[in-house]
Amino acid sequence: MCGVSARVVVLVSGAGTNLQALLDACADPSYGATVVGVGADRDGIEGLARAERAGVPTFVHRVGHYASRAEWDKALTASVGSYEPDLVVLAGFMKLTGEAFLAAFGGQTVNTHPALSPSFPGMHGPREALEYGVKVTGCTLFVVDAGVDSGPIVAQASVLVAEDDTVDSLHERIKIVERAMLVDSVGRMAREGFTVSGRKVRFGS
Ligand code: GRF
Repeated sequence: MCGVSARVVVLVSGAGTNLQALLDACADPSYGATVVGVGADRDGIEGLARAERAGVPTFVHRVGHYASRAEWDKALTASVGSYEPDLVVLAGFMKLTGEAFLAAFGGQTVNTHPALSPSFPGMHGPREALEYGVKVTGCTLFVVDAGVDSGPIVAQASVLVAEDDTVDSLHERIKIVERAMLVDSVGRMAREGFTVSGRKVRFGS
């Protein structure tokens, strides 16, 4: 990935503020990456609108439009593959990718999760951290594997839990450090490359 700008496909399901942070970073050629396509599992989301405003092509595959989850996964894999990405970033993508996707893009797909792995995997990281009563939580960028938020960790950042936090206030503070973590790590992966050895991820080739 070193030398030329790395081709990045981003998958989103919602507001797309992490996508926006990447789009903003990619505006600087020295960042080393370009978002070449944005995909989603649903229509009408701000994440897709952000891509369109940035002039980045988009695609949507809704699970409900396919006979099976495996068929959806194959269609998603084909669309992502058509952009010939060096790196795929799941940025608030609320679906688990499947076997076809992992076979095509395993080792070159990262996902961001709003909790400090291995704690609180799944859809409700901020809520479960708050309910558990932890004093520190945060976010994790990891290389996607077949599990739920279980892959080798690229980066983490911490956030202190405030006594009066709600799920929303905590998640919003997590997202501030999450965007910075994502931009920093994706840029390094693009410029320096990275290796995965067992559970250890290292920048550089
Ligand atoms: C992020 O916190 C992500 O980790 C979680 O959902 C949020 C997405 O935010 N799964 P956005 O769509 O990037 O604003």
